[in-house]
Amino acid sequence: MTTGSKYFVGNWKMFGIPSSFKILDRINQYFQKDTKNKRKYKIIMAPPFTLLQNFVTRYKNKNIFISAQNCYHKDSFGAYTGNISPFMLKKIGINYVIIGHSENRASGETDAMLKKKVFFALKNNLNIIFCIGENKKEKRNKKTFSVLKKQLTSVLEIKYNFKNIIIAYEPIWSIGSGKVPSSYELLKISINLKKFIKSKFKLNKMPKFLYGGSVNSQIISDFKSIKQLDGFLIGGASKSSKNFIDIIKNFYK
Ligand code: PGA
Repeated sequence: MTTGSKYFVGNWKMFGIPSSFKILDRINQYFQKDTKNKRKYKIIMAPPFTLLQNFVTRYKNKNIFISAQNCYHKDSFGAYTGNISPFMLKKIGINYVIIGHSENRASGETDAMLKKKVFFALKNNLNIIFCIGENKKEKRNKKTFSVLKKQLTSVLEIKYNFKNIIIAYEPIWSIGSGKVPSSYELLKISINLKKFIKSKFKLNKMPKFLYGGSVNSQIISDFKSIKQLDGFLIGGASKSSKNFIDIIKNFYK
């Protein structure tokens, strides 16, 4: 990973059919022509499993990276109907995987499972985008920081290579809701979390740190001044090439 570069990560969730490559083609065209800024950022797109093989082949050597949205908490092969292991992802040329998204946590993923996912993903040389975030009630009760700390420490370990780990702060109340933290709140959380991560995991350098939750081309204008952020995890707005490109455009405006 190049240091200093910003990350624009798209999470398509349950969206996309084979012809949806056109969305990414348009984003890629913009990226290739953006000679002024393209060295400053990296695009990672996470389509559903059904499109991974197709996309990874199509965007090979294009400097657009394809991520999986999840992986199973066991490795190699096994009797786990409907699941995909980190090993299987790596073997089709995937280099990134989102782990711990709140939508998956909500449907039953535990810290113990996430711990195994992270372990096996790193073992297979995948880069991890590890999601953390507090819910509305936790925020209201001023528990945000303690929730985030717990989510980090119950899954990540000092021995891991944090060069391969990207932390994505995604407040649950913000995902898909159009509500976002104020720039001040986000700045404060970013500073405190980074300090915590560095000391807790004994790191010289902070891993990449992203914000996600209702990111769009307007909000990006407020958040781009937060130097502590290394990029954004973008859900809804990543399903449209125009919206995704506008986010990048406004970021560099
Ligand atoms: P959103 O989703 O941008 O639609 O809020 C973000 C995410 O869930 O990663």
